[in-house]
Amino acid sequence: MSPNEILEWFKQTPVDKAWSFNGCKPSDTGKWTHGYHRYPAKFIPQLVEHLMDCYITNGTASINDPFMGSGTTIVSAISRGLCASGTDINKVAHLVTKAKATPIKPDYLEKRVKQFLSSICNFQDNKQGFLFSKSQMHPQIPEKHLERIDYWFAEEARDELGKILALILDETDQAVQAFFFVALSHVLKTCSIWSQSSTKPTRDMKKRPTPPADAIKRHLSKMLKGNAYFYAVVPSHVKENLEHYLNVQTSSAKAQAVPDDSVDLIISSSPYVTSYEYADLHQLSTIWLDLADDLKEYRKQFIGTSYKQYEDRSLFSQIASDIVEEMVFKNKKKGKEIEAFFIDMQEVFDESFRILKPGGRCCYVIGNTKLKGVDIRNAEAFAESLQHSGFKLDRLIKREIPLKILPQKRDEKTGRFASNDKANSEAYPTEYIVIGLKE
Ligand SMILES: C[S@@+](CC[C@H](N)C(=O)[O-])C[C@H]1O[C@@H](n2cnc3c(N)ncnc32)[C@H](O)[C@@H]1O
Repeated sequence: MSPNEILEWFKQTPVDKAWSFNGCKPSDTGKWTHGYHRYPAKFIPQLVEHLMDCYITNGTASINDPFMGSGTTIVSAISRGLCASGTDINKVAHLVTKAKATPIKPDYLEKRVKQFLSSICNFQDNKQGFLFSKSQMHPQIPEKHLERIDYWFAEEARDELGKILALILDETDQAVQAFFFVALSHVLKTCSIWSQSSTKPTRDMKKRPTPPADAIKRHLSKMLKGNAYFYAVVPSHVKENLEHYLNVQTSSAKAQAVPDDSVDLIISSSPYVTSYEYADLHQLSTIWLDLADDLKEYRKQFIGTSYKQYEDRSLFSQIASDIVEEMVFKNKKKGKEIEAFFIDMQEVFDESFRILKPGGRCCYVIGNTKLKGVDIRNAEAFAESLQHSGFKLDRLIKREIPLKILPQKRDEKTGRFASNDKANSEAYPTEYIVIGLKE
């Protein structure tokens, strides 16, 4: 299709109500292990499941997500007994996905959690900690991030978190340890002065943070239920041989550790240009779990970041080039950031093409936005770019996002997500699923 035909195709495509999942309750979207960890712009599992219903007809299929985030695609694939591979540059995403996709025997996990909680009670009841050896009781506070930790946490919370971390580091079963790390990572926001209503790093000096031990107890009990439910749905052959079915990495979406022609279906949602700075949004977890030595360098590896270094690479999509040109005219720096974003995505689509089997499909979920008055037609540009990578444009789904599921709005001036009351335009009342076929 020519660029004009693509633009027309998008204009003519009506909203398909079957893809809104209007009736979904939080208990549906947070079922199984999906409620382990919050994650900005995460999928609802129902969307992923519906795509699998449409395109997967055999029980031995292989599913991939190059931007796996909190692992919605990966968990859904594992729940169906399929092979799941994925990557994300964000180390928090890797940790969360691995834990969410690993079903643990419920009785056994319950015992380990009980033990863990009783150790926490001991140090809560007895601040001297006589039941512990000195090394266990010593709070493990990552020294090199002390300044950032003190920026976000009161002294008491910091010390309690350090003791919880010390207990987790003592856990010898890796799957159980990852389960605890995810619980800790999830509660960090509640225990800090990070504004509870903000996704972005904003301090709320009036906030009364929840004591870490209370927060983690409550969250572990929720996670235990999620694990038990997930354990019951994952087929036995997968539980017995999980390493064969689950391949998740921390690496770039442009170079996955996945063989050529091996994947049946890709279901993914990319980052957006200069919208969420994922490295910054997960900084509490990154500093506590010591996931990055150099935060500045870490940020640059994320697609869509404004910390990007520009290289001499060419943009192939005409639609993307027109957007860049319009933006450069208004704001050169922003224009260059958008250009870097579309070029990065071009390389991701090439990689998608490489790993898919002939007859396989990629499904990219993406919304459009407005930035400094310029229409950023991500979806149309993605469609054209997929063609450049060798895909045939197979199907376009336009879906409404019920605001109760994704109640975020974008600020029209900056294009960044903002809280509902502050934003002056709705984020994604609709979004697209652009589907490419490797013939
Ligand atoms: C919209 S989120 C994906 C959310 C996911 N669908 C879910 O359900 O949680 C986009 C993801 O892209 C990741 N990302 C950004 N740059 C990347 C890169 N160069 N390679 C791989 N992943 C990257 C971000 O860390 C983020 O997790």
